[in-house]
Amino acid sequence: MPQPFPSTIILASTAPSCTLLSLFSCILLVSLFSLHLHHHVSPLSQQHHKSLSLDALTASFLSSSNNNTISDYLHSLTLHPHLAGTQPSLSTALLVLSHFISLNLSAHLSNYTTLLSYPLHSSLSSHSNSTTTHFSLPEPHSNDVVSPYHAYSPSGSVYSTAVFVNYGRDKDYNALEALGVSVKGCVAIVRRGGDMSRNAVVTKAAKNGVAAVVMYTEAEANYKNGVERGTVMDGMGDPLTPGWASVADAERLGFDDPDVVKRFPAIPSMPVSSETAEEIMRTLEGGRVPEEWKGSLKSFVKGIGPGPTKLNFTYKGEKKLATIYNVFAVIRGSEEPDRYVLLGNHRDAWTYGAVDPNSGTATLLDIARRYSILKNSGWNPRRTIVLCSWDAEEFGMIGSTEWVEQNLATLDSKAVAYINVDCAVQGPGLFAGATPQLDDLLVEVTKKVKDPDSEYATVYENWASSNGGVYIGRLDRVDSDFAPFLHHAGVPSIDLYYGKDFPVYHTAFDSYNWMRNFGDPFFQRHMAVAGIWGLLALHLADDPIIPFNYLSYASQLKDYTSILSNLLEVSISLYPITAAIQEFEAAAKKAEDEAKKLREHETNGYNMPLKKRALNDRLMLAERGFLDTEGIQGSRWFRHLVYGPHRVGESRLSYFPSIVKAIFQSAGLPGGQAEIQHEIWRVARGIQRAAYLLNGEINIKL
Ligand SMILES: *[C@@H]1O[C@H](CO)[C@@H](O)[C@H](O)[C@H]1NC(C)=O
Ligand SMILES: *[C@@H]1O[C@H](CO)[C@@H](O)[C@H](O)[C@H]1NC(C)=O
Ligand SMILES: *[C@@H]1O[C@H](CO)[C@@H](O)[C@H](O)[C@H]1NC(C)=O
Ligand SMILES: *[C@@H]1O[C@H](CO)[C@@H](O)[C@H](O)[C@H]1NC(C)=O
Ligand SMILES: *[C@@H]1O[C@H](CO)[C@@H](O)[C@H](O)[C@H]1NC(C)=O
Repeated sequence: MPQPFPSTIILASTAPSCTLLSLFSCILLVSLFSLHLHHHVSPLSQQHHKSLSLDALTASFLSSSNNNTISDYLHSLTLHPHLAGTQPSLSTALLVLSHFISLNLSAHLSNYTTLLSYPLHSSLSSHSNSTTTHFSLPEPHSNDVVSPYHAYSPSGSVYSTAVFVNYGRDKDYNALEALGVSVKGCVAIVRRGGDMSRNAVVTKAAKNGVAAVVMYTEAEANYKNGVERGTVMDGMGDPLTPGWASVADAERLGFDDPDVVKRFPAIPSMPVSSETAEEIMRTLEGGRVPEEWKGSLKSFVKGIGPGPTKLNFTYKGEKKLATIYNVFAVIRGSEEPDRYVLLGNHRDAWTYGAVDPNSGTATLLDIARRYSILKNSGWNPRRTIVLCSWDAEEFGMIGSTEWVEQNLATLDSKAVAYINVDCAVQGPGLFAGATPQLDDLLVEVTKKVKDPDSEYATVYENWASSNGGVYIGRLDRVDSDFAPFLHHAGVPSIDLYYGKDFPVYHTAFDSYNWMRNFGDPFFQRHMAVAGIWGLLALHLADDPIIPFNYLSYASQLKDYTSILSNLLEVSISLYPITAAIQEFEAAAKKAEDEAKKLREHETNGYNMPLKKRALNDRLMLAERGFLDTEGIQGSRWFRHLVYGPHRVGESRLSYFPSIVKAIFQSAGLPGGQAEIQHEIWRVARGIQRAAYLLNGEINIKL
């Protein structure tokens, strides 16, 4: 199989003459960093050891919060851009590693050799009215930062007429067709925002005959020359090792293997600034604009083309094997070391990454600092806590996916929960997603953490009084590192962030200064995320009974089923699912009752370790029941039948992805009804498996 590089060490493969120097500056940075840390770590009294009560732990954890340390960590992490697979990215891995080591935590660096993608050359010019305009593609003053590009875009040159296709959805192409506008062979200008992945946008454009795609994100006045980088790869993880880990000597598919090629779009694409896109769109004529687009288009848009403007589009990139690094810190559980509570955040960034993702990394580092203080006061969690710093998330959740694939069987039997934070802070307001058995815990924890934007309120109080109320989203998205844990491994998961839609997303302006000036001037929101994230993990690792409530899962499943019933023809029966939910609900009730009894025994001083363990295993494993070995049709890697990718048609249902897919793909076709009914049965069996796991009995009916 072709391998352009052996599994090289990035340190050695990039400019050997600077290696020593950069290693040196890295060590220097690392030692400054740890010096700085020691200064802030003030162990509580070493005298009183052993079992702090959970209340005392919580109080101690909360009282050690510090916005200055978080700000310092963020500053150190974002001094240089650190794109996955590059030298500065390895430096951030070593920074995180040395931080964990300086806290006396057991720390590990591990690597994978994966297919990444980098730009070599791109250019774009427009030709209209015999004037040629050459666009400057990178942001001004952004020399350190990688040129704007779409990772894994094929290379290509196209000289053709420009046409505007709005968000590039099916309905947009339909509207164009209705106006008689042909996009065949054109360079399409697409704006982001149609709730589709970049891959889906480019793939749809190719299907409609477009020759190349220019993508932009509409921006406020101050950010008009920012460009949104991103991946256009479909699916999760290293394309050369689908389903298994990309360790150095792993089996690898060839670059031209159909399973590899299908992960990438067939036509080239590149991102541009909204300034560039607007300049092109001002020159489009044709007078035609679909009625339904008018409300949201800028007033200067007189027509959508095609032409008369022609675009000369060139993108040349390379795909190559590169080494990526995950970093871990492990706090070994004292009573159940073989049960894992995982906290994860990615570290790699398109540019400086102050929001995305290092607001999360700085927060994770501060949680490590605070756990280390607890450890110094004699605490060890009951279960093992693992802090995970992932690499190459931006390319397609690669670091986390490879790790999950490598440890699948262990996670299957031992992982209690995964708590993800990607962009910890983008602005104001808590946004949370979770699998439903974690809803109660999430709400309880927000009642203990101070709100960052008001003097006397808790996070919970402000959350409850916000527009959406205490709204917990579900994790059907596939855009961060919880996806492999939940969708592939069936591990109950949470995803947290502050703020929504920040203007510097994936641009060269995502810097420490932006965070300081706009995102979180006093780092109070970072502190709130650290409080919630850290306390969630403390409960999951230390509560004698794992704090899962499956009754809320049952009620969520019921809601889904009743919404679904309105969409289906009467000849299709949802009865298998309704019946399975009944079993699931009964099992959830039984588990709740048992948990209550065991907690009472616990308060009365009866320790029943084996009973607790048995119940905890049922609580931990129930989520795995939703996994199906056949997975979702056409994307078998996604095995979770309740939450998973569902982007078919313009479906808004965010659950039961395999049923949704069958409805939108096969309704009206011969055999379509049977297909939908089959998917309903599969989901029902998944819910039943979860019920059995939660119930804990082998179902033997004699
Ligand atoms: C990657 O990990 C392997 C196995 O632990 C190790 O032998 C190798 O030296 C590491 N490579 C790099 C580049 O860090
Ligand atoms: C780490 O352990 C060493 C030796 O036991 C101790 O001197 C140091 O204070 C510890 N550091 C932290 C941050 O706990
Ligand atoms: C191009 O030239 C034509 C004819 O001179 C003129 O009407 C039109 O406004 C020009 N278009 C642009 C975008 O300058
Ligand atoms: C298009 O751009 C490429 C690369 O910059 C250049 O070589 C080529 O001559 C241009 N073609 C036209 C028709 O302007
Ligand atoms: C930390 O918060 C205090 C206010 O509580 C503020 O004065 C200080 O500037 C903040 N530090 C940073 C680094 O923002």
